[in-house]
Amino acid sequence: MTRPRKLFVKSYGCQMNVYDSHRMADTLAPEGFVETTTADDADLVILNTCHIREKAAEKVYSELGRLRLLKNSARTQGRKLTIAVAGCVAQAEGEEILRRAPMVDLVFGPQSYHRLPDLLARAERDGRAIDTEFPAETKFDFLPAAAGDKVRARGVTAFVTIQEGCDKFCTFCVVPYTRGAESARPVARIVAEVERLAACGVREVTLIGQNVNAFHGEDIDGSTCPLGRLLRRLAEISGIARLRYTTSHPRDIDGDLIETHRDLNALMPQLHLPVQSGSDRILKAMNRRHTADDYRRVIERLRRAQPALAVTSDFIVGFPGETDADFEATLRLIEDVGFMTAFSFKYSPRPGTPASELADQVPESVKSERLQQLQALILRQNARFQRDCLGRLFDVLFEKPGRHAGQIVGRSPYLQPVQVLGPETLIGEIRPVRITDAGPNSLFGVVCAPPHERQHDTACLAATGA
Ligand code: 5AD
Ligand code: SF4
Repeated sequence: MTRPRKLFVKSYGCQMNVYDSHRMADTLAPEGFVETTTADDADLVILNTCHIREKAAEKVYSELGRLRLLKNSARTQGRKLTIAVAGCVAQAEGEEILRRAPMVDLVFGPQSYHRLPDLLARAERDGRAIDTEFPAETKFDFLPAAAGDKVRARGVTAFVTIQEGCDKFCTFCVVPYTRGAESARPVARIVAEVERLAACGVREVTLIGQNVNAFHGEDIDGSTCPLGRLLRRLAEISGIARLRYTTSHPRDIDGDLIETHRDLNALMPQLHLPVQSGSDRILKAMNRRHTADDYRRVIERLRRAQPALAVTSDFIVGFPGETDADFEATLRLIEDVGFMTAFSFKYSPRPGTPASELADQVPESVKSERLQQLQALILRQNARFQRDCLGRLFDVLFEKPGRHAGQIVGRSPYLQPVQVLGPETLIGEIRPVRITDAGPNSLFGVVCAPPHERQHDTACLAATGA
């Protein structure tokens, strides 16, 4: 019998990549690959890359430098280490990676990973291989997940890709170029995957996609299914207690989705809704196709439907032409909306995107200063959000043992880690927890019995404007 080959997949960037990495491992399992947690003893290393901002691509090249040494030392031991670059940097840079990084054997884009066994064979036969085509068929049709086997649950929570690609063409963003046009998975496949995950003990599913609320998948009866309907359908699956979705675009929040936030207990009261800027001039230049007030209004409608809703967002500072006044409009929006937390980035020109060619690029020092100011405001809002959790009763889904004996860790409806003293038999269970202490990143509490009836403590945490 041949020795199983070891596979190490390193993911960069978003949850979509983490999901893709798992599916790559699933695709390679029938080929005799078992996963390992380090590159040191691997036969195949796949870097599943992200191209969204500059540093992400730089990190890949420096990781490749380290892998070159590993490949050389494997060779001196008579072993072959195959190095593959996947994901969005692979899609965007293609041949350039093979030129710049001679140690790389295989380059493939996000549309190709279902062809991995074949690509590996090609790389072995021809020395190197590259596949960055956008094929007419969708990879969703070829995944083991879709074929009905090999979906492995890796805990009590799971991510499920329901949609990929983006047609929005924000002028700063590479996603429409690296991930291609929007394509949705058929409902039957999503339901089947979630049913399998539930059968493996998964209690919480996060639906993911670059523009997940643009989801319009083909339903079983041939009609088009919007996200709200899909969420309601998935909530019926026995064992599934919690649902989330990410990442969304403000323009694609429709009435049905807002009602789903109102009516569906399983849908957690937390929403990641990137806005990027609070200045209408900049939003226009970004081709976001909504104003700051449109954003305020959509949040207002969502909060009317679900008063417990906490909102998180993404911001870019220093977009070309951003003035002090534009930046102040962003700070005002943050103050008006009140975020649980947010990701914020300095604008980074991405090759091939319209904004990278604009005159009026903002100096690095101004970007840094604005980023600091914005992050300080978000931090204050987040500290207030954490503080407001004190004394509340949260349903907590327990996920794993804690670091200390007798401790277990779960997640609140807001995804905050919650630590309690309790038996490991609670892992996979949802219990009400009274919050007794709130740190910047974690909550601490005591498990209460009997289970309370309400899913969310709706009295809490509406606006957290600082
Ligand atoms: N520069 C800085 N941030 C960016 N993002 C996307 N493209 C860029 C860029 N060119 C940020 C946006 C997006 C998040 C995933 O990454 O805020 O919502
Ligand atoms: Fe990129 Fe999101 Fe805009 Fe699509 S909607 S282009 S993924 S920022």
